[in-house]
Amino acid sequence: MKIAILSMSDKLYSTQRLLEAVRERGHEPVLVDYRHCNLIIEQGKPSIRYRGQDLHDIEGIIPRIAASYTDFGSAVIRHFEAMGVPSSLSSIALVRSRDKLRSFQHLSKSGIGIPKTAFAKSPFDDDVTALVNEVGGAPVILKLLESSLGKGVIKADSINAAKSTIEAFSGIKKSIIIQEFIEEANGADIRVFIVNGEIVGSMKRQGKEGDFRSNLHRGGTAEATELSKKECSVALEAAKLLDLNVAGVDLLRAKRGPLILEVNSSPGLQGIERVTKVDVAGKIIDFLIRDIEKKRAKKARLKEKAKKKKALKTTKN
Ligand SMILES: Nc1ncnc2c1ncn2[C@@H]1O[C@H](COP(=O)(O)OP(=O)(O)O)[C@@H](O)[C@H]1O
Ligand SMILES: [Mg+2]
Repeated sequence: MKIAILSMSDKLYSTQRLLEAVRERGHEPVLVDYRHCNLIIEQGKPSIRYRGQDLHDIEGIIPRIAASYTDFGSAVIRHFEAMGVPSSLSSIALVRSRDKLRSFQHLSKSGIGIPKTAFAKSPFDDDVTALVNEVGGAPVILKLLESSLGKGVIKADSINAAKSTIEAFSGIKKSIIIQEFIEEANGADIRVFIVNGEIVGSMKRQGKEGDFRSNLHRGGTAEATELSKKECSVALEAAKLLDLNVAGVDLLRAKRGPLILEVNSSPGLQGIERVTKVDVAGKIIDFLIRDIEKKRAKKARLKEKAKKKKALKTTKN
């Protein structure tokens, strides 16, 4: 099978591991830098051109779309979907998971725990005071809607600090969410890695000294951790709610139980594989291959059924 990893570069650890896992299973891996895919739209026959080639023979895709390319990346996935190519991530699930407000709106429909969160496009000063109080008072966490790797997450220690930060961001037309600060998390969070409704690994990440953000890209460290029953069920439910077959669910350990912080649709493999020693890349590829085979068998069954129906009609006539 020809399986494409949609990624910017084969220098990235996760991309390398996925390419390797396809090869190890006797299939043909291809790196497709989705930024250079040209999408051809014509009636009944969508196609993709990439570096002079027609990508009609790709049998499955693993999208690894960078946060700055969510829009175009989702259009490329949509095109593969229209071509009937199975994907480990659907275009709609990617878009939904990348927008923090949209994911929280989705998650809040179920009973799972989330930190209390407010969103306002351009609040007046008095509104900020009310919103900060609404989510439990200062300190509060402010987040850019499209933050990733902890780069757009700020702790405002007072209402005034929250006001000036929000003012600065609305000045550059950036929307922000205001969130209850979970102090007892002590700068740590839990990453739960899920593949096809199953937890394949988990780790506790601890922010560097003095940082409330536990992101490994911000200097955090990671160690393996055992999950409680509740943590398992909450993480699995969050991935399911967001329709993600491959997900990195981040939880905060709060006094009132596990709270979902975010659900990543292209979770990094380096930290989790190093800490847990699990072949996570292999699990993702195994899942995709099974999915491709299942869809193929279904297609063959439908074709057979249609053939039989046609034959029956001809005999009757
Ligand atoms: N409400 C919160 N209370 C306490 N810590 C938080 C809160 N929100 C985020 N953090 C810390 O900041 C980190 C980054 O936040 P997150 O929402 O995951 O943004 P990003 O997508 O940029 O990683 C988290 O991993 C967590 O350690
Ligand atoms: Mg995060």
